[in-house]
Amino acid sequence: MPPVVDLSAVEAVLDATLVEGGPPVGRPGLHLLRAGGRRLRPTLVLLGDEFAERSCREQLIHLAASVELLHMATLLHDDIVDDARIRRGQPTINAVWGHRLSVLMGDYLFARAFELLATWGNQEILRGLAGAVRAMAEVEAQELAGGPSPDLTEQEYWDRVAKKTALFMAQCPRLAALAGDAPASYQEALHSYGFQLGLAYQVVDDLLDLTAKPSVLGKPTGQDLRRGIVTLPVIHAMSHCSAEDRGRLQATIRARPAPDDGAEWVLPLLESKGSIAYTLAAADRMVDGACAALAGLPAVPARERLEGIARSVPRRDY
Ligand code: IPE
Ligand code: IPE
Ligand code: MG
Ligand code: MG
Repeated sequence: MPPVVDLSAVEAVLDATLVEGGPPVGRPGLHLLRAGGRRLRPTLVLLGDEFAERSCREQLIHLAASVELLHMATLLHDDIVDDARIRRGQPTINAVWGHRLSVLMGDYLFARAFELLATWGNQEILRGLAGAVRAMAEVEAQELAGGPSPDLTEQEYWDRVAKKTALFMAQCPRLAALAGDAPASYQEALHSYGFQLGLAYQVVDDLLDLTAKPSVLGKPTGQDLRRGIVTLPVIHAMSHCSAEDRGRLQATIRARPAPDDGAEWVLPLLESKGSIAYTLAAADRMVDGACAALAGLPAVPARERLEGIARSVPRRDY
């Protein structure tokens, strides 16, 4: 996704925040920051400015930095949980510096994010972001404790996707409206847009885990099945395939340790059952919902950019 706003001031806050922690924190922090990342959440924060009653640019730069710090902390802890070795095309912090430093790094990032929020946010902003991070922790703990879940229903899947990604993404575009006293209807529209964008975004992330090239995606594929995590294409295939294929899928999801050939026969099965197309159609529906939510907002350039971001999600290949 090409950058749609100038994020240089946000990058400067992020750099400074990491360097201030001293070399043990700064080095791994800058490694993750420089490795890339789409900066989708800070972009959504800055784009909200045009809908605010009064512009609050400096405040938004710091709020945008705080959501990226929260995002980095959750990625870091997610990579510890998964023992992931590659993210953003580079070795993860836990692969280079070990789990112990990664845990502390994550704590540092959370602390710095909440310091920024205490200075530049307000109670409603804090409540929204804390609630979103809490939902993420709850659902990841549930996934971990519950173990492989071959019987996950589509409803349960959507609930997980909401908690993993959509609740957090819903907060980002509405921060400007909250900080800049926009009408309540604007806050609701931006929240609804961000929520549905987040659903689509995670569904496509789950799809790419099955279909993407790891070198393009910047992280290994086939990880969800290997961890016993069932996503929408697999749920769809389970209810459209033969009893024999269903048994094979269930055995793969339950297998510990995960078989190395995992994704090789699964993808052709999903394709033949229309499960990839079904998942893309679901992401398209979420994107349509996100764009429809924008209709209640004034036709400023940011509205078009938000629509462009949403439309690009199902087409992304990384
Ligand atoms: C990864 O988030 C975790 C998910 C919610 C799928 P991003 O795909 O936004 O990661 P970066 O920041 O661009 O690396
Ligand atoms: C989002 O889901 C993780 C968080 C809640 C931070 P994933 O586990 O699918 O993210 P990736 O694929 O590791 O980036
Ligand atoms: Mg993960
Ligand atoms: Mg994923």
